[in-house]
Amino acid sequence: MRDRTHTILPLIIALSAALFAIDLFMPLGIAVGVLYAGIVTLAAASSHPRLPFLTAIASTPLIIAGAALGPQHASIPVWVGVSNRMFSLLIVWISAVLLQQRQQAELQLREAKDELEGRVEARTKELADVNRSLMQEISGHVQTEGFLRNSEQALATSRQELRDLAARLLTVQEEERRRISRDLHDDINQRLAMLVVQAESLEANLPASAVGCSKELRSIQDRLTELSDDVRHLAYQFHPSILDDLGLSVALQRLVDECAVRSNLAISFEVTAPPKAIPQTVSTCLYRIAQECLSNIMKHAHASQAKVSLASTAEGITLTVQDDGVGFDTQQVVDNPRGLGLVSMAERVRLVHGTVTIDSIPQQGTRLSIHVPHAEVSV
Ligand SMILES: Nc1ncnc2c1ncn2[C@@H]1O[C@H](COP(=O)(O)OP(=O)(O)OP(=O)(O)O)[C@@H](O)[C@H]1O
Ligand SMILES: [Mg+2]
Repeated sequence: MRDRTHTILPLIIALSAALFAIDLFMPLGIAVGVLYAGIVTLAAASSHPRLPFLTAIASTPLIIAGAALGPQHASIPVWVGVSNRMFSLLIVWISAVLLQQRQQAELQLREAKDELEGRVEARTKELADVNRSLMQEISGHVQTEGFLRNSEQALATSRQELRDLAARLLTVQEEERRRISRDLHDDINQRLAMLVVQAESLEANLPASAVGCSKELRSIQDRLTELSDDVRHLAYQFHPSILDDLGLSVALQRLVDECAVRSNLAISFEVTAPPKAIPQTVSTCLYRIAQECLSNIMKHAHASQAKVSLASTAEGITLTVQDDGVGFDTQQVVDNPRGLGLVSMAERVRLVHGTVTIDSIPQQGTRLSIHVPHAEVSV
């Protein structure tokens, strides 16, 4: 900008000098005066805001001096020359004022533009800062989300591992119970029976004089028989052999009868379309669940009646145990389990890919239903 003023200024001086020189040789310089307006216009091309005005100021004495010192012509009246110079001065000053105004307007426009650009730049910077902090926040969220997803996955894996472990424990426990039951029944009980037989033959071979010994021997026989009954009962508690020998329906009937004897409950058992063959895992699972349900009824329900039913359909097998007792808040028990019965029930059912449904209304009784699908049951 400064360079342009430096170029224009000598040009203005040169042109003004040339015009003044021409004016000195032209009679009255009629048209020359107006050309100073052109020099003022040229001054407007410089970046200096006051240059057109200064040029007009400098041109004024030159226009007047040019008229005074230039050649006079007798045929041209003085008033023509005076009005010509007045007109030239008017044009020069109007041009200067207008150009000055235009330059001021341009300057204001430039300032406004600069200010706007400054504001845009500041706003852009602000936005870039906000954008950066947003990006940081987003990347933080993404990171947290990743951590959360990983820990969720780890949690799901450990939950699955726990479930698998629980399932394995249940299976192993059942196998162990079956083995202990078999040992008690087939080994200990047989040996007790042999002892009873031996005691009987010993008693038979005692001389008539050994009355005291005979009494003692009979007492031993009685206690051995009692012990044998207890061992058989214990074996049955560990694993009811009739479940394997006679099937689920018979085992359930016997369980119901036993419970009815032990409590004041009126328990009924009903079988609809008895299943022909049930895998051992399923029959053990359903038997243990029925056992837990009846135990819960006797412990918690304060019921007067209970009903166990077993039904087999084309889809699978369903065991239902219901009572008319006090009922309970199922959600509360799920959220805050107090015992292990219902929890291990759910695990057992999961092992055979079945489902458990518990409907319980306080003061109106409980209905627990287990459905094991066809895939696990050969009907
Ligand atoms: N038939 C029922 N009638 C009323 N309440 C029941 C019945 N069955 C279960 N409940 C309630 O559900 C709770 C949980 O039963 P669950 O069998 O899981 O545990 P528990 O019987 O208390 O203990 P555990 O079975 O480990 O000996 C019981 O404490 C009881 O309040
Ligand atoms: Mg229980």
